[in-house]
Amino acid sequence: MSNTYDFGLVGLGVMGRNFILNVADNGFTAFGNDLDEEKVNALIEEGGNPEKVNASKDAAVFVNALTTPRKIMLLVPAGKIVDAVIESLLPLLEDGDIIIDGGNSFFTDTDRREAYLKDKGIHFFGAGVSGGAKGARLGPSIMPGGSKEAYQYVKPIFEAVAAKYEGEPCVSYLGPKSAGNYVKMVHNGIEYGLMQLTSEIYDILKKAGKLSNEELHTTYTSWNAGRLQSFLVEITSEIFAKKDDLTNGDLVDMILDKAKQKGTGKWTSQNAMDLGIPVPTIDIAVSMREISALKAERILADEKYDRPSPEEVVKSTLVDRCEQALYFGFIMAYAQGMHQLADASKEYGYELDLGEIAKIWRAGCIIRAALLADITNAYKAAPGLQNLLLSPAFVSKVQNTVKATRELVSYGATNGIPLPGLSNALTYFDAYTSRRLPLNLIQAQRDYFGSHTYERTDREGIFHTEWEA
Ligand code: 6PG
Repeated sequence: MSNTYDFGLVGLGVMGRNFILNVADNGFTAFGNDLDEEKVNALIEEGGNPEKVNASKDAAVFVNALTTPRKIMLLVPAGKIVDAVIESLLPLLEDGDIIIDGGNSFFTDTDRREAYLKDKGIHFFGAGVSGGAKGARLGPSIMPGGSKEAYQYVKPIFEAVAAKYEGEPCVSYLGPKSAGNYVKMVHNGIEYGLMQLTSEIYDILKKAGKLSNEELHTTYTSWNAGRLQSFLVEITSEIFAKKDDLTNGDLVDMILDKAKQKGTGKWTSQNAMDLGIPVPTIDIAVSMREISALKAERILADEKYDRPSPEEVVKSTLVDRCEQALYFGFIMAYAQGMHQLADASKEYGYELDLGEIAKIWRAGCIIRAALLADITNAYKAAPGLQNLLLSPAFVSKVQNTVKATRELVSYGATNGIPLPGLSNALTYFDAYTSRRLPLNLIQAQRDYFGSHTYERTDREGIFHTEWEA
């Protein structure tokens, strides 16, 4: 069994087991490792042929089973466990071996681990893997960052197991150090934005249009056949059709409206703030999960305030406006995320190719959408594009949908239906496309009370005024 398996994987939970079986399905031999004997045995059984897929609880047996340079992927929870697994493997590894962290690790942790392991002669990759359990089994989108020279060893395996979009694998070497984890973090930030927008549109269709779950199912299904085609719209349509085993009612109505989060959306927002990049649609998506968690307070507050009853609407007009607004909102969420990637790339020296990133998001990942083909083309046509809104191909998409978005946002505001993601997306658009903003006044105020100085519109230099006569 010594040194014969092509690929090693530590962490045989659902994601790990599915990923390793995917590797084996694609003609590579693979060896798994987990402290839990049941998981080890389950993999051997499911793999069906130990010559192709094998596993052991014992780290030494595991490491010894792999061909060199060893390619060892970790699919374990982000945080201290990643460091612990690395420490347990280190004494067993040889110069040139490769460790790939496939979890949602925070990018600065990846930088620290990469530097630490480089000193010890081990290559380290932070590779975002998106697509959930099904994606891991059938083809995820993979976002690897790390040593370019070592990528050649990983590339054939990743390209074989990744999702394919028109035959092209949804994986690409993205850049040095933590580039892969950073891109996956922003992917998740966009994911939060798209999910928030989708849920707001559901809310307004239900409250204002009084659409039944069956009608919501049909509406989202038809949208998924058009320009809104995306994984999230597709699963949303299926969610509305799902019956509850316990009550025989519709499952969606039985689910508590408190959304949890593991932190990647929050990290995206926090880092965007640190870098001074505006991503308000992502920020508000994080805040809405936080507001949703305040269920008891929301109930108390709901009892204290009146809320208008939604004015009558023509259902078909509402549905049409919602389709346009959702498309508009999706564009803003991607635009903000891509903008963050463009700026972060300069800040952290990732040298990201944004067209390549959009390209590997076209299939396999949670934010896959028809729009990503257009985004790919926009960045391939203009690699230095700072913001999607500056792409000529996107101007008409936005122009054609902004009016409906304004109407919907204004209806929501008048009728007390919260549309925070959508109104933020609209405000972002209005502000980003404004030649002049009223922030001159803020500069005057800052200079007034704190001598913070200001620049002028008519001449170069830094100015200060004694404002009080
Ligand atoms: C993916 C998902 C995956 C996970 C999210 C969930 O790309 O496959 O993004 O990574 O489902 O991290 O995040 P929250 O628990 O924070 O919603």
